[in-house]
Amino acid sequence: MRVYDIIEKKRDNKNLNEEEIKYIIKEYVSGKIPDYQMSAFLMAVYFNGMNEEECFNFAKSMLNSGEKMDLTSIPGIKVDKHSTGGVGDKTTLIVVPIVAACGVKVAKMSGRGLGYTGGTVDKLESIPGVNVSLSMEKFFEIVKSIGCSVVSQTGNLVPADKKIYALRDVTATVESKPLVASSIMSKKIASGADCILLDVKTGKGAFMKTLDDAVELSKIMVKIGKNFGRKVMAVITDMNSPLGNAVGNSLEVWESCEVLKGGGPEDLKKVSVYLAANMLYMAEKGTLEDCITLANEVINNGKAYEKFKEMISAQGGDLSSFDNFETLGKDDVCYEIISEKEGYVSSIDAEKLGKASMILGVGRLKKEDSIDYKAGIILYKKIGDKVEKGDVLAALYSSKTEKCKCAEEIIKEAVVLSHEKVKVAPLIHAKVTDQGVEKF
Ligand code: URA
Repeated sequence: MRVYDIIEKKRDNKNLNEEEIKYIIKEYVSGKIPDYQMSAFLMAVYFNGMNEEECFNFAKSMLNSGEKMDLTSIPGIKVDKHSTGGVGDKTTLIVVPIVAACGVKVAKMSGRGLGYTGGTVDKLESIPGVNVSLSMEKFFEIVKSIGCSVVSQTGNLVPADKKIYALRDVTATVESKPLVASSIMSKKIASGADCILLDVKTGKGAFMKTLDDAVELSKIMVKIGKNFGRKVMAVITDMNSPLGNAVGNSLEVWESCEVLKGGGPEDLKKVSVYLAANMLYMAEKGTLEDCITLANEVINNGKAYEKFKEMISAQGGDLSSFDNFETLGKDDVCYEIISEKEGYVSSIDAEKLGKASMILGVGRLKKEDSIDYKAGIILYKKIGDKVEKGDVLAALYSSKTEKCKCAEEIIKEAVVLSHEKVKVAPLIHAKVTDQGVEKF
């Protein structure tokens, strides 16, 4: 077999068989195929796509490039969730304890933020003492005793994706649905859960800018999961504007705790409860309505927040910082953005807000960059809100006032006011299962 022939075949829009896909991935991971040939292949896939069988074989070959987690020693149905990423998306911090408080186990591996979208691991690490690099034994022990644990990717899971993703990142081939789908699903299958809920974001602050694209990506992922014998469902949620009011690591932990305690922003609560309920539904805890009730119950009776605190303690986190969050959780510099005019908020560009948060120190441009856990943005106005001249639109937290001044310009551009009150767009757009697509 020659890699040249495989590239040529995909360039000419022909379908690849399992052996050809296996070959190109295996030989690339072992270093026998150079980056320039893999880049040409990825670009051919970007333009010509892959059919269902090719996507499955691509995901399978990536999966087989490394170790797989075996969760069978943990009793019961295990559920997992994955978000395609967004600004202010802290739902994992809320959903995992809700689901565990309802008696369903979650053994979750999460990622770090890269670029303007955040990552759960960074958010957890903003809590003093939290260890996200637990040994496999400790991770399993916590899931068995408490019901949930969130760690960074351990072991040698899907090394092919690490290498291919890094190449896609620098060859403008990230935004290819078959490549995104096989990248995400190979990692989710390797993580071992029985049921996988995918939160596919759509809108200005997401990879998938349109609902049609998000639906198409969801369908591919659901099919890959089904072929591996897992229960997979995708919920398509809005990422035109940020979720909740907080953007930034410790600020998002604090806001998640507010939701777990029964308060917090309505949009964040609604999406989190819906995601948690669908995970419970997949774990056969009842009808979707029953599961929504269950999820709300554990918030209202304090069990979800207790579960979160148990998990944080078990992972070495210092819970006393939660009691002093107002003073300990934010950077010293607080800079308010004041509105110069009146009107109604008609849009908040999530991507721009994410970029402004990077200036404040929230994220990293390169993997090696360090981040400022206490930096971030609190929005005081959301879409549909009335704004008077002189009102505070947002508070910025950073280590330096100059950083806030730079971010201010972008945030002023991101928050658009109109004369008329606009209708708030739906938060949950659609649901995709192996039975079909349901649009809301
Ligand atoms: N997230 C992933 O894990 N892979 C992609 O290709 C895109 C987003």
